[in-house]
Amino acid sequence: MRTPLIAANWKMNNTVSESLKFVAATMLELKTLRQVDVVIAPPYTALYSMNVALAETEISLGAQNMHWEESGAYTGEISASFLKDVGCKYIIIGHSERRQYFNETDETVNLRIQTALRHDLIPIVCVGETLEERESDRTWEVIERQLTGGLRDIAINDYTKFVIAYEPVWAIGTGKTATPEQAQEIHSQIRGYLESKYGREASSAMRLLYGGSVKGANSAELMSKEDIDGALVGGASLDAKQFAEIVRNSQR
Ligand code: PGA
Repeated sequence: MRTPLIAANWKMNNTVSESLKFVAATMLELKTLRQVDVVIAPPYTALYSMNVALAETEISLGAQNMHWEESGAYTGEISASFLKDVGCKYIIIGHSERRQYFNETDETVNLRIQTALRHDLIPIVCVGETLEERESDRTWEVIERQLTGGLRDIAINDYTKFVIAYEPVWAIGTGKTATPEQAQEIHSQIRGYLESKYGREASSAMRLLYGGSVKGANSAELMSKEDIDGALVGGASLDAKQFAEIVRNSQR
């Protein structure tokens, strides 16, 4: 059975002190975690302090992006070893905001995945269609292209340490969630794709997260679907009560 995974993507929110306050508030709500993996991906500037604060909890640390090169003249970039150095275990790759505003492509997603695996960081690879693509019936075509490009020549040793997040772009930060049925349909297609690429055992070990306006109130129903193994949460992950409710709703 796959352990559910709830990942908080804070985006460009929370200073160091706000981040630490959040950890304290969340732990008051959650106390112990039962059969669920929880990750928080704060901004880079809070990673070091968050690593110290999270050491006393069962919550893991993640980052929102990284460069694929090891080091060198890449002004403004952060490498995988820097992230390991401050205790990161997870790395979000190819978020739609990175694709939309920072020219992230399937090729650069692929390079980042290679680097993440080399450094033993667990990738959370994001895929998803825009509203226009959904309305013109190109949803699967787009996701298949993102998977094919992103996973090109990627060999995975431990399938429990490779995560894909389906995030329809039209549902991110809009308050419009995909229905559990819409999300399940795509998740099952993604699992089918992974099965054809890596085999049945592999595909049934990999966790598939849903992302896009997940809140306390809609999370239980989403998580009840067969192929939805957790959530990548933006807005609602900035509120300790909401976030804790999502975590609680995902515990099996
Ligand atoms: P949202 O963001 O929960 O605010 O829709 C999800 C995401 O972008 O990962």
